[in-house]
Amino acid sequence: TQYPDLVIVGAGLFGLTVAQQAVEHAGARVHIIDVRDHIGGNAYSYFDKETGAEIHKYGAHLFHTSNERVWKYVNRFTEFTNYVHRVYATHDGVVYPLPINLGTINQFFGKAYTPAEAKALIEEQAGELAGTDPQNLNDKGIQLIGRPLYEAFIKNYTAKQWQTDPAELPASIIKRLPVRFNYDNRYFKDTWEGLPKDGYTAWFERMIDDPRITVELGVDFFDETQPYNRKALQAAGVPVVYTGPIDRYFDYELGDLKWRTVDFKEVRYAEDDHFGCPVMNFSDSDVPYTRAIEFRNFNPERADSYTPGRTVVWEEYSRFAERGDEPYYPINTDEDKALYARYAEKAAAEPRTVFGGRLGTYKYYDMHNVIDTALTAYEEQVAPLLG
Ligand code: FDA
Repeated sequence: TQYPDLVIVGAGLFGLTVAQQAVEHAGARVHIIDVRDHIGGNAYSYFDKETGAEIHKYGAHLFHTSNERVWKYVNRFTEFTNYVHRVYATHDGVVYPLPINLGTINQFFGKAYTPAEAKALIEEQAGELAGTDPQNLNDKGIQLIGRPLYEAFIKNYTAKQWQTDPAELPASIIKRLPVRFNYDNRYFKDTWEGLPKDGYTAWFERMIDDPRITVELGVDFFDETQPYNRKALQAAGVPVVYTGPIDRYFDYELGDLKWRTVDFKEVRYAEDDHFGCPVMNFSDSDVPYTRAIEFRNFNPERADSYTPGRTVVWEEYSRFAERGDEPYYPINTDEDKALYARYAEKAAAEPRTVFGGRLGTYKYYDMHNVIDTALTAYEEQVAPLLG
């Protein structure tokens, strides 16, 4: 095989960013492989034939950043809509705004508290466990925001996320529970926010629209019957950027890193709009899923292209991941962190392989974090290999 200058394993945002940089700065010939049948990694989306909605195949993806380098970079490949993320929650048959804010509090208690009054009330309720050092998530939650709000909005939702009673979960999972003593229910606090105007996949295709970049889908790096496998590339001395799971790269020889995953259940309604918002959380235990995503409501500006009387919703069910499941959220116990550190040490000893992205570094990254770390990894680690 005539190998290119660089092989990238994984066509997610990390891999695409490094590929784009390698061509732009080094004129390199880059080959990207991905085991899936599409580019974009977990940020991939497609347009649903029946409704016209853009479905985020691996869960809702909202772009937001305060990083100017990243914002400038992404704007080279896509325009963004003026979408601003807001989330609502259903509790006991009533819909409330999230994150918990003065609107939530006043609706919940049926009052017209001022910010100072609401703050005093929450402090009083949180005082129930004052002076204690909670070891489990349940007590910690009560100590942070008081029992009434904790039990209404956090307790059962968290239990569904972790499939574990919060009294059995370590307090360290939550450091703080943000409560806003005003009516601001804008979800993200970042300087820039929006959704790619013509969809995520069109954005990603433009990043690699160059004859020096080739992409091969449905190819597994560990499949030794295909030429771009680990052993063959190592033997040929070809630089590799690896964005798959770091424990898989080393055949899980030190053990498995632990993740949570999400199962999606698609539901279709013969209505124009089922929830009236893109994300509805379900705070109570009687609804088995954590939240539901109604995709058409992410892009109200596309109203004219949607099929009237049809909408598609995905319900999310959270659980621990087994090998073979999609790893979504690193569990990140102290044990996991120590295990990752040992894998990272082994990775550092691989001279011509750069490990990156959320799977390669066992981190929960938002898209802007992944792009930022990819730009830096290109400069510091990949460029020197292209010599
Ligand atoms: P990513 O996982 O996208 O790509 C890695 C690629 O490597 C995959 O395509 C995989 O198939 C491939 N691969 C793995 N092993 C391979 C092998 N052996 N051979 C070949 N290919 C292999 N971010 C944000 O900013 N806003 C948001 O709202 C959300 N929402 C969100 C929801 C959910 C449920 C999740 C799980 C994640 C988010 N994110 C997010 C995070 C976002 O998805 C994430 O930052 C990027 O997709 C990470 O890009 P990477 O390239 O690191 O990994």
